[in-house]
Amino acid sequence: MNFTESNTLRERFHRLIPGGAHTYAKGDDQYPENMAPIIVRGHGCRVWDVDGNEFIEYGSGLRAVTLGHAYPPVIEAARRQLDLGANFVRPAMIELECAESFLSFLPKADMVKFCKDGSDAVSGAIKLARAHTGRDMVAICGNHPFFSVDDWAIGVSGMPGGVPTVTRSLTLKFNYNDLPSLKALFDEHPGRIAAVLLEAEKETSPAPGFFDGLRTLCNRYGAVFVLDEMITGFRWHIGGAQTYYGIEPDLSTFGKALANGFSVSALTGKRELMRLGGFDHDQERVFLLSTTHGAETHGLAAAMATMQVYRNEPVIDTLWQRGRRLSDGLRAAAVRANVTEYVPILGQPCCLVFGSRDLQGQPSQPFRTLLMQETLRRGVLGTSLVVNYSHSEDDIDRTIEVFSEAFVIYRRALDEGIDKYLCGRPVKPAIRPFA
Ligand SMILES: Cc1ncc(COP(=O)(O)O)c(C=O)c1O
Repeated sequence: MNFTESNTLRERFHRLIPGGAHTYAKGDDQYPENMAPIIVRGHGCRVWDVDGNEFIEYGSGLRAVTLGHAYPPVIEAARRQLDLGANFVRPAMIELECAESFLSFLPKADMVKFCKDGSDAVSGAIKLARAHTGRDMVAICGNHPFFSVDDWAIGVSGMPGGVPTVTRSLTLKFNYNDLPSLKALFDEHPGRIAAVLLEAEKETSPAPGFFDGLRTLCNRYGAVFVLDEMITGFRWHIGGAQTYYGIEPDLSTFGKALANGFSVSALTGKRELMRLGGFDHDQERVFLLSTTHGAETHGLAAAMATMQVYRNEPVIDTLWQRGRRLSDGLRAAAVRANVTEYVPILGQPCCLVFGSRDLQGQPSQPFRTLLMQETLRRGVLGTSLVVNYSHSEDDIDRTIEVFSEAFVIYRRALDEGIDKYLCGRPVKPAIRPFA
């Protein structure tokens, strides 16, 4: 692999775009030094960069591209809609059709509002919860890394710069699978907590009774339960993780997989909350997700086509099957290379990630970088192992081969010292307070 052109372009990207990318998770600092490809095009599970390198890609579109790049039924639907106009002065029929299609997957949700980014959807949920309860604080799961770019969330992240202290003080954190930690927040801040917000699952699965207990606590203390399905939606189950696990949120938020990479997200849930964004009530109105581009028609056409594919084809089953093949193969390869405890394969099969640990068993950015260096060299690109519907069994098997070779080098680096094998500076967490 040769990254000459990508490396030459880097300076131009950084001169014009803060951080050199429009999303931090895509930044050069997330990749081994001088090995951060600039992409030209994608097809299925593959991408090609400006140097002409071809990669099997994982976590495409930051997990938004669940069917595969340039997936024909989706781009054809978007293309057809382009001929009919992108945005009007009044709602288009497709806004209703897309709402009907979306809500058909979630029998317990009554209403939906579409927007462009997941962050807006989650912030909309928080606003509704505050308006509904008349309270100002929110309790978010401290083990889940990201909910929104907005101040109420970023103010308590690892990168709180620019957020007023008073805003930061309104967001509290509880621990996943730890109901006493949530109850303690309710008890410490009586009558103050408007919303409880978390994802259904990251690398740790919900303990039996956790979500029922959380629901009970929300009922008892009068808080709105918001489930963030940005990653789990249309991946764990066609009805989201709420269907997969039988979770009963008041509001939930979707994005990513909803439109196969097109910009569509959604806030959905119970009518008594959602209607505050309308005008069929006599309470104070809530300014809910009203943006110029919120209902851009070709995005909604892409979403409808994506949902249609999910409805007609075994997308979810395939994501789980391919993921299982991948995790089984990687775990067996890790055993052969004697790195099992250093490179754990984590998460549900439909949403896998790899860990990287040093000889002391501590999470290690240098070892993560080494693994990415060796897999990139061999044609696999990704900061995760998140599959899409276009990964064939052959793609999965090739990935396992690539990782098997990388694991051998990982083992050598454990035994002989990483400096001998790592070519540049290590990667850094995307969300950190200083460069
Ligand atoms: C769980 C979760 N919630 C919300 C968001 C925000 O979505 P967006 O980046 O579309 O604003 C993300 C983004 O990665 C996410 O992973």
